[in-house]
Formats: sequence, C-alpha cells, structure tokens
Amino acid sequence: MSTKTTTRQSHYWVQKQRRADFIEQWRSNRRTVVGKEDVVLEDTSRGIRRGVYVGADGGRPTRSMDASVHEVDPGQVSTVHRHSWDAMMLCVGGWGWTEIDGERIDWGPGDSLHLPAWSWHRQGNDGATTARFVSFSSEPLLETMGMAVLDDAGHRPVSELDARPAFSPDVPGDDSYARRVRRLAEDQSARRSGRLHTSWDDLEMLPTPRGTRTTFLLDRAIGYQASGITMAMFEIGPGRGQSMHRHPGEAWLYVLDGEGHSYLGSEPEGGEDHPWRKGDLIVVDHFLWHQHFNDSADRTARVVRVHMFDSLLETMRALCDPLVLFEEPPDHIRDRQAGDPTTVDWPELTRPSWP
Ligand SMILES: [Fe+2]
Ligand SMILES: [Fe+2]
Repeated sequence: MSTKTTTRQSHYWVQKQRRADFIEQWRSNRRTVVGKEDVVLEDTSRGIRRGVYVGADGGRPTRSMDASVHEVDPGQVSTVHRHSWDAMMLCVGGWGWTEIDGERIDWGPGDSLHLPAWSWHRQGNDGATTARFVSFSSEPLLETMGMAVLDDAGHRPVSELDARPAFSPDVPGDDSYARRVRRLAEDQSARRSGRLHTSWDDLEMLPTPRGTRTTFLLDRAIGYQASGITMAMFEIGPGRGQSMHRHPGEAWLYVLDGEGHSYLGSEPEGGEDHPWRKGDLIVVDHFLWHQHFNDSADRTARVVRVHMFDSLLETMRALCDPLVLFEEPPDHIRDRQAGDPTTVDWPELTRPSWP
C-alpha cells in the first residue's frame, strides 16, 4: 500500500492562501475607541468582577496585549493566582490592596502596579466603596508562542504554594552551555527584583514643547522589569493636541480624565475623528496615522498610554530594518493644533476619581 500523500495544490498556493486569509481575518479585528459602555462587567469565580476592553474573552482578539477592567467590592478578597505572562495595573477608583508573592501593597486612584510573570497575586478591598482598576497583560503574545499558562489556587495561603519556577544560578566550566546558564540566571535575577508600585503622590509631570506634560508610570527607565509593556501618562492642555505619527503594533490610551477626539486614518489626511471621554480606551491599531486632541477649552485631558515597546516593537524594528517603522508627516500636518502650545497653565495634579 502506498503511504504517499498528495495535495492537489502545491505548497506555494496553500501557503499563499493561508497568509491572505490570516490578514483578512485580522483586519476585521481593527478597533478605534472602545467605550466604557462597551465593556460588560461579569461576576467571576475569583470573587471580583471583570470586563474586557480588548482581548479574546471579550470578543475583541488582539496579538500582543489585552486590556481588562476589574472591580473589588468592599470586604472582598479574590482568589490567589499566577500566570506565565505579566500584567500592569492602573488603579482608577476607590482604595484597595494587592498582595504579590505575599507582599501587600495598598493603593489608591492613579497608582500603578506591576504583576511579574509567575508571581502569586490576589486583590482585596478593606474600604467602604468599590475599588476599580484596569489591567494590561502580555497574555496574547505568550499565547501565540504556546506559553500562556494560568494557575488559580483558590484561597490557599501563599506560604503553602510553589515558588516561582526555579533556575540554576551557575554550572562549572566556561563553555557555551555554562555561558547560557549564567546569562539566563543573571536575567532572571534582575527580572525578579524589579519595582512593583508607583504611587500617584510621587508623580512628577514634565512639560513638553507641544502642549502636553508627561510622566512614566511603569517603565524600565524607573526600575520596572516587565515583558515589554510600558505605561506612561500624559496630560493634554485645553484645546491642544499631540503631534501626528504612525507606528506598528498595538498602542492604547486609557482616558483617566477629560474628553477629546483622535484622528485615525490610513493617510495623514482624509481619515476619521473618533470622540472619547473618561473611561474609554483609545485603540491605535495596525499602523494607522494618529493624533490625539483635547476638545475642552478650559480643562486638561489625562490619558495613560500603554504599548509593548521594550520587547515586541524593538524586535520588530530589528527584524524589519531597513523598513521604516516610525513615520511623521510633513510639519504642517504633524503639528496642527489651535493656539500656542507653549503657554499652558497646568493645574495641580489631583488623583483621578470614579465615576
Ligand atoms: Fe492575574
Ligand atoms: Fe503613537
């Protein structure tokens, strides 16, 4: 009996069709602004509510990161769990606490935290009002590589649970294997000693020449060791805007305060304006030209920008060079905005509130 299999089409055509189908499918996942009313909060077995801004479980699949919102009612404590991906939390309302590998961190609105890969963590609220936070994780990226693992341990005390995966610090010799063991051990030691919490009270906003002021929330520049997700906050002066540009990858902006609109288009002109307000997530997707404007004449707008720069985008830049992955249009389009951007009267930095 013959064991030879034949395909009627050659490998070339099968592959070509598969690649075209893949892109067609992903184009249908393109998002613009996900409004807070588009996010359905559901009770979960963890004991806290969860809603999905973008991510497969909310019917809005992504490739590198996902974004969810969580609510912890007064007196609630979630189950403890860990996962192979890491996540960043942005606290947006109420006061709560997070325990990371047994270390408790109390937080309030505007604080941000890093949940390292494989760390046991749970959420709690000892206060009198519901605590709310938004989270961004690298789960989709790990899933594309078959490395997304979740472990929920219910309400078992962390002292009874396995520590993070062990690694060998060293082996004898100076061969390539020994060098690999040492290199990876050094990397893990650094990654397991990163910073975990940025308090709103410690933020220092620095003005830029274009009518915005910014600060890092969670970034390697201020001691965080993440999978590549970075989080920064910027504030746009009344009636001002950012400059226009485009880049690959998913870049998201969570609106902490204010209202405005974002230009999104496949060309720097002729695209569409998308309005947004507090609690919405602006999704800058798939290499679109974009520019964000504050539509208020007297109040600033505060948005938190999240993207996967320090791993995925850097890798894309290295692999795609000399393709240009960051572009700016001619100056008159890039910088269009009303008024002189250098004259913004910045208000005192107050914590955000919800609702
Ligand atoms: Fe988690
Ligand atoms: Fe951007």
